[in-house]
Amino acid sequence: MASDFVHKPVMMAEVLEALKPTPGGCYADGTAGGGGHAEAILAASSPNGWLYGCDRDGDAVEAAKQRLDRFGGRFEIRRGNFGELADWVPAGSCDGLLLDLGVSSAQLDKPERGFSFREGPLDMRMDRRQVLTAADLLNSASDEELARIFWEFGGELQSRRFARAVVRDRERHRFETTRQLAELIERLAPRYGKKTHPATKVFQALRIAVNDEIGSLKLGLEGALRILMPGGRLAVISFLSFDARIVKDLGRARARDYTFTGGVDVPELRQPRAPELKLITRKSVKPSEAEVVENPRSRSAQLRVMEKI
Ligand SMILES: C[S@@+](CC[C@H](N)C(=O)[O-])C[C@H]1O[C@@H](n2cnc3c(N)ncnc32)[C@H](O)[C@@H]1O
Repeated sequence: MASDFVHKPVMMAEVLEALKPTPGGCYADGTAGGGGHAEAILAASSPNGWLYGCDRDGDAVEAAKQRLDRFGGRFEIRRGNFGELADWVPAGSCDGLLLDLGVSSAQLDKPERGFSFREGPLDMRMDRRQVLTAADLLNSASDEELARIFWEFGGELQSRRFARAVVRDRERHRFETTRQLAELIERLAPRYGKKTHPATKVFQALRIAVNDEIGSLKLGLEGALRILMPGGRLAVISFLSFDARIVKDLGRARARDYTFTGGVDVPELRQPRAPELKLITRKSVKPSEAEVVENPRSRSAQLRVMEKI
């Protein structure tokens, strides 16, 4: 439901500083969420700026549309993956694009979405039209596959041990709830007073796998290069080290004036080509201390900004 959609947008001032929305400009928000950033972009580009927006989550799309109602006629928001933005947003049309990655507070705080440790179904789909849920994945993947997911997407050091335990446990009963999984991991790795739940990395990894977040991000970054006009800016807020790395690597690779093959940059084998991007932030920008105090969920956010040449 849109009316109970609560999410506090992070790094608002920094995003506006990066995208510099101006009247008549055209912007895109690939992760509209509750519409907080979108609203600020539309307000800053009044009276005639335009915004294309999307989100995979139907509740988010409804919430964003409601919040942006007063800008009627100046935006188009569709339900869908930002990896497909370039399929419907005209090429070379945007002065700026924002991707505010990950899940929203509204998704995290609703136990029925299955993203948190609170009792709920093991769902974790951002787009609930998708068939595959976290329960499906956990109940069907081999122990090698689960171990790979826990390790690659969560950095979980006990990935193999946890994966074997899941496979053993599911011979007796299907995994249906978040609590079943959280309790299994807690039995294997007791908390001993630690603040962080021992299943944090496993939950993160499952979420990333269920939503194919890496595939979407790679497609979304490629699409960004198509929909931005020369001089247009891409701003990406990431919360996890793996997606921050993907953004950083793409930025660096496309800002070079050469390519190389074989994965090793040997100066003699470089192929010259025109760079596609200029890096506006050499290092990622972090939220201010004041913002972190006011909104603790912003603490791991990092913003990267690049400009299409
Ligand atoms: C951190 S929230 C964005 C909040 C938003 N900036 C605001 O001001 O309310 C992330 C949102 O991105 C959406 N999302 C994540 N990956 C996506 C993808 N590949 N395509 C479209 N939406 C995605 C999630 O459903 C979630 O609503």
